[in-house]
Amino acid sequence: MNDIENSLKEIKKTRASLTVEERAEEMLSKTYGFAKLMTYYKCAMMEIETKFNVLNEELSLQYDRNPIENIKSRIKSAESIAKKMKRKGLPMTLSCLTNNIYDIAGIRVICPFITDVYEVARMLLSQTDVELVQVKDYIREPKENGYRSLHLIVKINVFFSDGMRQVPVEVQMRTIAMNFWATVEHSLQYKYKGDMPEHVAERLSKAADAINALDHEMSSVRNEIMDAQNSSQKQS
Ligand code: GTP
Ligand code: MG
Repeated sequence: MNDIENSLKEIKKTRASLTVEERAEEMLSKTYGFAKLMTYYKCAMMEIETKFNVLNEELSLQYDRNPIENIKSRIKSAESIAKKMKRKGLPMTLSCLTNNIYDIAGIRVICPFITDVYEVARMLLSQTDVELVQVKDYIREPKENGYRSLHLIVKINVFFSDGMRQVPVEVQMRTIAMNFWATVEHSLQYKYKGDMPEHVAERLSKAADAINALDHEMSSVRNEIMDAQNSSQKQS
């Protein structure tokens, strides 16, 4: 029996038989190692989220609009972690978890335009306490089904009471339009439990092309307006 499965078993057992206070105490003491690890990820996630908020504040002043529309973050639940480790055939130990699963802390950043995605990503990666571990650019190379997004895995330096730790965080960056597509596609995947009918997949693939065209058209409209504004400012 391993650490994580043990923790989940303990949580279930204590939930059934104890009062609320006892339950909280039991869970904390029995799963301390796991909870501590999750705290590291939560703090790393908070730091990265703050970095995006700082960039957004500063850039919105500079450009008179927000290059970030929305930021969402989440910590993977114990159940999802256990499922993922099982799926990957990994032994359920805390050390195996830290060495193999990089999306425990996840942040999704939604930007209006494709250029914003790359600009904000570049600014994050230029920071000295952020180390790039992996890039998957599904914007330049979309997935077979049409999914588009920029995925980064970064390690951030977090200072705790006993010293500094480098903690990985998965960052997903995409435009508002790409996010619309991904949200609908995700709910359909869920509905069809991964077994999506061919005709639905085809329509989603066509919709992804339309989303791509829309992203480029919106950028082009915006660039034209900005050019016109700039030249009228120069003339006056
Ligand atoms: P897992 O982390 O095990 O999922 O595999 P991976 O690391 O190879 O995945 P990848 O980096 O390609 O994607 C990780 C996350 O991106 C997923 O958990 C989803 O949140 C999102 N994602 C990836 N592909 C799709 C997709 O086709 N549709 C939608 N809606 N989301 C996707
Ligand atoms: Mg992943």
